[in-house]
Amino acid sequence: MYQRLMEHLTTAVLLLDGELRLSWMNPAAEALLAISLSRLKGLPLPSLVGGGAEVGELLAKARDEFHPFTQREARLTLVTGEMLTVDYTVSPLSADELLLEVEPRDRLLRISREEALQTRQETIKVLARGLAHEVKNPLGGIRGAAQLLGRDLDDPGLQEFTRIIIEEVDRLRDLVDSMLGPNRVIRHEPLNIHKVLERVRSLLIVEQPKVWIERDYDPSLPDLSGDESQLIQAVLNVARNAVEAMTEAGVASPQLTLRTRARRQFTLGAERHRLVCEVAIIDNGPGIPASLRETLFYPMVSGRAEGSGLGLSIAQSILHQHQGLIECESEPGHTQFRLLIPMEKRHD
Ligand SMILES: Nc1ncnc2c1ncn2[C@@H]1O[C@H](COP(=O)(O)OP(=O)(O)O)[C@@H](O)[C@H]1O
Ligand SMILES: [Mg+2]
Repeated sequence: MYQRLMEHLTTAVLLLDGELRLSWMNPAAEALLAISLSRLKGLPLPSLVGGGAEVGELLAKARDEFHPFTQREARLTLVTGEMLTVDYTVSPLSADELLLEVEPRDRLLRISREEALQTRQETIKVLARGLAHEVKNPLGGIRGAAQLLGRDLDDPGLQEFTRIIIEEVDRLRDLVDSMLGPNRVIRHEPLNIHKVLERVRSLLIVEQPKVWIERDYDPSLPDLSGDESQLIQAVLNVARNAVEAMTEAGVASPQLTLRTRARRQFTLGAERHRLVCEVAIIDNGPGIPASLRETLFYPMVSGRAEGSGLGLSIAQSILHQHQGLIECESEPGHTQFRLLIPMEKRHD
């Protein structure tokens, strides 16, 4: 019965012997690796999937130490030559039996992850907005009362207190306003994405002249339809983080790359688009702290003491308003944010 269960699982399951040779795999694994069990049986697995040395070492270690582990985003080269990115979990069952579960991290998976991420972000946004409104309502009253009180106080020492109340209320109001995000309807006007990037570039040069900004533009990109000042804001939020991360980490030769590309037949969320504009913002800074990766785009998530944690959440909601999204890949020395904006004509 267990065999039957295994055969119907959609997760790829492989069983290796003590020499890391394949003794069995289920049909899902055959499909994933694009080869049949009969052809692989008895052969050492590490030599069959490229990137072998590393996979072999990890498997041997799990066997020797009798310790399960999960490897994320491992790159395998299949017998067909195709590259595959997978997560895999190894569980040693006995001294000469290793169980391997492999999960592809390909496009399909990315799409469902994006969807899940997007719904989660929507929920958080609704929550944050609700909270922001509740915080904002009494602020006007507090400010007004403090002003009146200040007028009636003769002691400048006491007036100092009302001044602090007013200043703090203003700071809170600004914070809440930025949490509420852009509250006007976004415009859909033809705009040139390179104009947006050039604007951001000139702002950053003034802020951080030490950072070298490399431009890699695809001049054949047509105009897209959107809100120029909102997109400047989104790109600026992402690029400014990169510049801040590089300067704070004291990177020797900080470099920011602004790259544009056209992507054809590209799927965003559940929709397939004929043409998508990709803006990549790449830096050679320290990378995104691992603790932030899952929640990076949530409001109030920040890795910096004085950060508000709103920059990326605002940027992401601007991209959503353009039917696009932002995705991110990061490792120390190389962080890439990609802003993806569909370029179909809108009829509104
Ligand atoms: N390019 C990057 N390199 C390293 N860390 C980054 C990068 N971009 C964003 N981060 C991290 O993500 C956090 C959230 O960014 P953001 O939403 O703009 O909020 P804030 O900048 O106010 O902290 C930053 O505090 C930083 O820790
Ligand atoms: Mg920021």
